[in-house]
Amino acid sequence: MCGIIGAISNANIVPILLEGLSRLEYRGYDSAGLVVANHGLQRVRTTGRVAELSNLVATQKTQGFTGIAHTRWATHGKPSEHNAHPHFSGKETKIAVVHNGIIENHEAIRTKLQQHGFHFSSETDTEVIAHLIAFNLKQTTDLFKAVCLSLTELQGAYAIAVIEEENPERIIAARKGAPLLLGLGKEGHYVASDASALLQVTRDIIYLEEGDVAELNRHSYKIVNCLHHQFGEPVQRIVHESHLTNEAIGLGTYTHYMQKEIFEQPGAVANTLEMVLNAESISPNIFGSKAEKIFSATNNILIIACGTSYHAGLVARYWMETIAGLPCSVEIASEYRYRDAIAVPGTLVIGISQSGETADTLAALNYAKEVGHQYSLAICNVPESALIRQADLRFLTRAGPEIGVASTKAFTTQLASLLLLTVTLAKMRKKLTINDEKQMIAALRHLPIALQHALQVEPQVKDWAKRFAEKNHALFLGRGAHYPIAMEGALKLKEISYIHAEAYAAGELKHGPLALVDNDMPVVAIAPNDQLLGKLKSNLQEVHARGGRLYVFADADANIESSEHLYIIRLAEHTGILSPILHTIPLQLLAYHVALERGTDVDKPRNLAKAVTVE
Ligand code: M6R
Repeated sequence: MCGIIGAISNANIVPILLEGLSRLEYRGYDSAGLVVANHGLQRVRTTGRVAELSNLVATQKTQGFTGIAHTRWATHGKPSEHNAHPHFSGKETKIAVVHNGIIENHEAIRTKLQQHGFHFSSETDTEVIAHLIAFNLKQTTDLFKAVCLSLTELQGAYAIAVIEEENPERIIAARKGAPLLLGLGKEGHYVASDASALLQVTRDIIYLEEGDVAELNRHSYKIVNCLHHQFGEPVQRIVHESHLTNEAIGLGTYTHYMQKEIFEQPGAVANTLEMVLNAESISPNIFGSKAEKIFSATNNILIIACGTSYHAGLVARYWMETIAGLPCSVEIASEYRYRDAIAVPGTLVIGISQSGETADTLAALNYAKEVGHQYSLAICNVPESALIRQADLRFLTRAGPEIGVASTKAFTTQLASLLLLTVTLAKMRKKLTINDEKQMIAALRHLPIALQHALQVEPQVKDWAKRFAEKNHALFLGRGAHYPIAMEGALKLKEISYIHAEAYAAGELKHGPLALVDNDMPVVAIAPNDQLLGKLKSNLQEVHARGGRLYVFADADANIESSEHLYIIRLAEHTGILSPILHTIPLQLLAYHVALERGTDVDKPRNLAKAVTVE
């Protein structure tokens, strides 16, 4: 959940570190720091953001040709300057470390090192790594070997970069369980948590694999793999060309990434569905070469995910059952991984994750394999992620980089992918006629335009947002496949506006939550024109009769009228099966505009980070 970057170059690398950190800030923003080698190790740290670090660096005129930097999401030790990375070890000659991940056995190592006279100046698990390397450096006298030796003692997840005062002509980097890549540039070599940080200097990228340790010099590099052997075997890794564009990672004309990403949804969904938009029929091969065989053996679905991705899974359950006739369960990854789960033969396990690095989702998928599930499919937005590498089958949502912490376009592209998967399975299970399949493809083809229409409700939503901004609580109601959409709407609102919001299946209201309803409680309801509309209307009456304020997002043709304390925004059209995807849009807009009204940090909400790479 932290971002790290390192650079060794012919030129001053401080601007590169700062620009890289600003690209990585979505990964954590509790503190920022850097260290450069320049007549000793010069370190600058702040509990402020990267912009504050830039000011400090400018004042102190920090520069150098080798350096590492970090933006932190606090796990061990509160956000403070002494807990900010880089961490040092050594008196006469220092080493510096930046780290993303969690060292699970840090207490045991800390105790051992204290007994050897090491003094700790932070509460972080990272400082343990710094001292451990310094301890091993005394025996091996070579930093590369000292890092390899130290890694054999570390339990948990890490991506690290290390530099040494004595020999500032190299950076040592290593990864296990957290993403890390190398950048090969004309002027030098780089290491970073993701490619967006290095776009400024190179597109030539090497994705490090589990257990890889790399040594970067200005004009050369070597990689060994230490997973099974202390000092590792030299390995060759493929150099990829990154196709990221500055447009994809920049704000452009928008004020916030979340706003940009909401409005990018028609294009993101069109890209995700590109391979079927011009097709007459859907081939299982779009999920991988083994998909036909695996899908033929599938008679049950288990979806595992967290947060917004979990909500996408919950919607898919309705589709899987209704369209494909497949039993489907959906599990929160952090719960599933610790349950005594029973494997049902013929189950396809689907992991959904925007980042593909969510620790709980990765662990839960591993656990599913351990308990006997044979086949897995990853739905993910990051091609080089651990999730994609781990699964038997894969489908990439092509949403482009999602930088705002609140997930938006990742969600709608996940839904589009899951609908595509449902149709594929339904077809293979002979639940759809050729004509049905054609109609489904036509519906998917229409989706980008329908999303464009849904975005047009923004001015009306803005009006509502003013009223919500003064509230401390809100309820969200939905039924059927729109219940998870209500959950997603509540998550968006609480995440970025800090208003306490809860979602209920509308039929559950009278079983308890109705007690919360009074004239100060806004109740948001999603009212598609489906077979449950009549039931939902009765639920809304229950709220109305108790003085609740109802804010209803209805389909264009839903037979529901506004009245006193019942406000309606109608979507431009009624789109049947696509309805949950379209009803997501006004809820995202509501959260965004309420956050604007309340003046919160839309893209970097407090206490959160984008990729949750720790348990
Ligand atoms: O990268 P993932 O999709 O695995 O992330 C899962 C959740 O952490 C994520 O969806 C989170 O709930 C979002 N911040 C919600 O907007």
